[in-house]
Formats: sequence, C-alpha cells, structure tokens
Amino acid sequence: MKLAVVGGGSTYTPELIDGFARLREVLPIEELVLVDPAAERLELVGGLARRIFAKLGHPGRIVTTSDLDAGVEGADAVLLQLRVGGQAARNQDETWPLECGCVGQETTGAGGLAKALRTVPVVLDIAERVRRTNPDAWIIDFTNPVGIVTRALLQAGHKAVGLCNVAIGFQRRWASALGVTPSQVHLDHVGLNHLTWEFGVRIGGPEGENVLPKILAEGGDELADMLKLPRSVLDRLGVVPSYYLRYFYAHDEVVRELGTKPSRAAEVAEMERQLLAMYGDPALDEKPELLAKRGGAYYSEAAVDLAASLLGGGGSPHQVVNTYNNGTLPFLPDDAVIEVQARVGRDGATPLAVPKLDPLYSGLIAHVTAYEDLALEAALHGGRDRVFKALLSHPLIGQYDAAEGLTDRLIAHNREHLAWA
Ligand code: G6P
Ligand code: MN
Repeated sequence: MKLAVVGGGSTYTPELIDGFARLREVLPIEELVLVDPAAERLELVGGLARRIFAKLGHPGRIVTTSDLDAGVEGADAVLLQLRVGGQAARNQDETWPLECGCVGQETTGAGGLAKALRTVPVVLDIAERVRRTNPDAWIIDFTNPVGIVTRALLQAGHKAVGLCNVAIGFQRRWASALGVTPSQVHLDHVGLNHLTWEFGVRIGGPEGENVLPKILAEGGDELADMLKLPRSVLDRLGVVPSYYLRYFYAHDEVVRELGTKPSRAAEVAEMERQLLAMYGDPALDEKPELLAKRGGAYYSEAAVDLAASLLGGGGSPHQVVNTYNNGTLPFLPDDAVIEVQARVGRDGATPLAVPKLDPLYSGLIAHVTAYEDLALEAALHGGRDRVFKALLSHPLIGQYDAAEGLTDRLIAHNREHLAWA
C-alpha cells in the first residue's frame, strides 16, 4: 500500500506519522511519500518522520520529494493537507475582516472565502494530476475550507472524501469521560464542515442509548468553558455545537476579543518556528508535546480510520466525513456537501439517515450552504461580482457596505494568489 501526503512538510505531519505508526495493523503502509514544495522544511519533517517510524518499529519506507507527479505516482490514496500562502496568508484572513466589523477566521466568514479562493484552483490542479497517473486513487481532503474544497473535488468527478477532526475530538473526550472505548461512542453529528452540532451521543452504535442529556447535566459547565458559550445556551438547545458555532452565536463578542490579541496565525507561526527547530534535532524521535497545542488533535486517527475503510474496508463501519448530501438533509440540494456520519467502504461514503432537524439548525445550515455554493462559484470563475455576492450571502455579513469593504480587502490582500485579479 502506498500513500502520499501533499503538504507533507507541514509541522502537523508528525501527528499523522505517529498515528500511522501506532495503527499499522489497521493501515499497513509500505511506502509513504511526503510531497511539499518547501524542500528544507520537508527534510526536517521527513527526518523526524523516519525516526518515529524506526522507534515504533514501522517497517514502511518514507520518501520525501518536491516533485508532485513523481510523489503521487502509484499511490492508493492521496491526503491533501496544504495551506496556500502559509500562515502569512492566514494571518491576513484573520485580520482584515475585523476592519469591517466582521469575524476574522481562517474558515468562517470572509477569511474563509479568501482561503477558498486561494485553495480551490490549487487543489483541483493537484487532483487532476493524481487522476492522470492513478484514476483509482482516493483523495482524502483535510485542506480547508473542507466543505467547499470537497464539493469542488466531487463536482470535478474526483474520488474524494473530506475530513475534519471536530467529531473525533468530541468522541475521544466523551469516551474517556464515560470510561468506554472511542469506538463505542457514536455521535449524532450533523451539519456542514465547521458548522456542526452533536444531537446525540450513543453508546454502542447508531441505535444505542443517548447519553447526551446526562453529559450536559453532569459536564455542562466544563463544555461551556471549552466552547466559551454560556452554559444556559447549551442547556436550552440540549445539543452541543462545535466551537466554530461561537463565531455565529457570539459573533460580536468574538470580534471585540480578536481586536485585542495577536491572531491565531501569529501564535501558530511562533509555534511552528519552535517545532521546526525541535524537528531538526536528531535525538528527537517522537511527536513533541508542543504539537498538542495545535488544533489538529486526533486527526491522524481519523485519517487512518478513513483510509483503512476506503482502501480495504477495515476501518470503523461509521465515520464522520464530508460528502454529497444526496437527500440526507432534504432541505439542501443533493450536491451540497454535508458533514455527517456515513457508512464508509471501498466504494466511498454513504450518509446515514438523519432525523428531521429543528429550523434553528436547518435554517443556518441552508443559509451557509447557499454561501458555500456562491463561494465555490467565485473560486472557480473569479471576478469581483462573484466575490461580492458570496460575501453578501453569508449570514455573518449580509449588508452591502460590509460586503463591499470586504470584497476590496479580500482582493487587495490576495492578488498574488488569484489568477483573475
Ligand atoms: C481544527 C480544525 C481544522 C483546523 C485546525 C486549526 O483542527 O478542525 O480544520 O485546521 O483546528 O488548528 P491551528 O492549530 O492551526 O489553529
Ligand atoms: Mn476542521
């Protein structure tokens, strides 16, 4: 089995390698290729990756290359974890929306649109090159914004599944709180990528007992602290929103907060400097503690599970992924991409049925889906008007003057990444 990781020079890669090494029975990789245009960084990360494999006794070979076509050739699955423009571009996405009174975030709102515009053409080009050499290869997309990028891939006819670690984070958290194994915890996880709610937490599988009321009753304060939302909101909803919902439910509060502190991109850039210095130390042969301060906890386990199912059918029978709606949420078009539990196997992902949603959730999901539709149009075809319409349609923007100001800024800050600008 051969896997390629595009964006393999990411400081996140040791997290992935650690998961591959620990879970080698589930996913027996013979060759792992880390592909990245940043050759120096790739060598540092690749060196540590080899030491982690050696320490944990993984017999697989790790290859590093900046040649995409050579790297993906013969791969059974290709993982995309790239960031066009790096943390510098992310820093912009998190900053200029604040000037218009809007949240500055890498996937939500105007910053997320900027990221989509930079990223979709690059990802489609990579996917096309993968298809040319291996028409049967699966593409696993972690690249944000995952919902829009996955939709772009599926629309272009690629064999793609989108992945995020929000659900697996909740699953691991509640498994340990309840004293059961993670595979015994089934989440009723519904929404769009970075716009999801846990409607139930079931023990044993989709038909198991729902212990969410108990989790909220006993652990509500802790959850509220983690999500930075009042406990009363969680209690009244009776569901657990992902922390990305704070950008909606507490938008103005977040904008005020963001104005008073360094951006997440700046924090991450500093962590990356430290991480890369550590990775260069030949004595280091495990993922460093510092990596736990990044948002990607458990994403390696989600990736192993998904790749195992897509390639051999050996992963968990149900997994939370991003895939076509196909009637699952009847108020959305079939070709919208949703994030839900799905049966995953060699033929891809098929969503499990979802009970009718309260309008409190379906309304916002439909609204953001409309934005994602227009965002993808803007990413594929460019043009100031398409950018403006996507921004105007976003539930966190909605007013023409803010949308105008954001359009100007988005284009000004991203010119070098936008072929049409
Ligand atoms: C979570 C999200 C990812 C996102 C990451 C950011 O893991 O699910 O989609 O990329 O957080 O983490 P960072 O450490 O870069 O802020
Ligand atoms: Mn995510």
